[in-house]
Amino acid sequence: MFRHMVAGWDSSTRLKNGSEVHYINFDNAATTPPFKSVLNEIMEFAPNYSSVHRGAGYKSIISSEYYERGRDIVLDFIGGNKDYHTVIFLKNTTEAINKLSYRLKDELQDKIVLSSYMEHHSNLLPWKYRYNTDYVKVQSCGRLSLEDLEQKLQYYRGRVGLVAVSGASNVTGYTNPIHKIAKIAHKYGAKILVDGAQLIPHSPFDMKAIGSEEHIDYLAFSSHKMYAPFGIGVLVAPKSTFEKGYSEHIGGGTIKYVSIKDTIWADPPEKEEAGTPNLMGVIALSESINTLQSLGMKRIEEHERNLTVYALNLMRDIPNLVIYDDFDTDNKVSIISFNIEGLHHQHLAQILNDEGGIGVRNGCFCAQPYVQKLLNISDESMEKYRSDECLPQPGLVRISFGLYNNYDEVYLFARLLDQIGRNVEHYRNKC
Ligand SMILES: Cc1ncc(COP(=O)(O)O)c(C=O)c1O
Repeated sequence: MFRHMVAGWDSSTRLKNGSEVHYINFDNAATTPPFKSVLNEIMEFAPNYSSVHRGAGYKSIISSEYYERGRDIVLDFIGGNKDYHTVIFLKNTTEAINKLSYRLKDELQDKIVLSSYMEHHSNLLPWKYRYNTDYVKVQSCGRLSLEDLEQKLQYYRGRVGLVAVSGASNVTGYTNPIHKIAKIAHKYGAKILVDGAQLIPHSPFDMKAIGSEEHIDYLAFSSHKMYAPFGIGVLVAPKSTFEKGYSEHIGGGTIKYVSIKDTIWADPPEKEEAGTPNLMGVIALSESINTLQSLGMKRIEEHERNLTVYALNLMRDIPNLVIYDDFDTDNKVSIISFNIEGLHHQHLAQILNDEGGIGVRNGCFCAQPYVQKLLNISDESMEKYRSDECLPQPGLVRISFGLYNNYDEVYLFARLLDQIGRNVEHYRNKC
């Protein structure tokens, strides 16, 4: 349906047997190819490219306007409020979460941050190494335990300052009921950060009205996962978060006044964006949002969900296949993780590439605690893996669909996976 919209949709690759086939990219959770509309917009804008906020010339004025317009486009896309929110452009989700973690240091002093076992390392380490943290458990299927969340909030009696959870997992694709979580967190006086890296490209999103119990306080996401791989990460937050103090990076663009004795900081977001901003990244992100909106996030969600349902149905009966999924496709994005018993995940990923021209990801996907839980690996076994790097490390294989993937690709993938599942011995001996 959206097949021709991205660069490289029709790429080919050579299999190990020498034949040339269509390349199937099922690694969209890592990063997505650019929209053609984004590439066109970049080429169209390029003749006007100039410095943002720094020049009096015609091109500089246009460049500044486009850069600032990008913030309005983001706010409109995620249901933000121009008077209340600020949109800070950074490098990626990781940098956005690190900024928030640094800038909340006064607010979260003596508080506890609740992260969870299902988080990407980027929503785990910035909290773990700066704050007292605790981690919300996951159920055996990998879904976040809302019961444990509420128990922990009760246990800490108002001392939890922030609940930091992903909108969707990059391992299972499970979506979290973020507005319900917001309501629970607010009830106990905590705020909520949604790591939107895997949710924003796939589903409609709404911060919800300020003052509503379901309001999302902070949101982070990356443009390279939404068809605009030109180095932009976004942090949406209340302006008030940045009133006091100053950024972890300071310098050009962050001030109103400087003397050798004294500094008056600029208002957010400028205060938080040191150095020459990534204008082309913002042009790309703005155009990708325009394109996503014109296609309709609901339609995109529906198409990707249909592909996921189709894939899971084809995969269900494959011999020796273990799927790390509860099959609740209404509450997940288009990501499926699995293993074939008797084959190492690295080997399986290699076979899919060599014999099917299918690009997937394997390993722990920067979410090691979560994968350890899904694989039910004990702490003692983890110690063994930790101390012996030569041991084949645990992991999974992941496929993740973008809006341009189609049923034929899923069918070809499932057919090869079935062949592998039926002939594990043969494939193991080949490695
Ligand atoms: C859920 C989640 N959070 C955060 C990140 C980090 O994103 P980035 O690498 O763009 O900083 C990723 C990347 O895969 C992710 O999947």
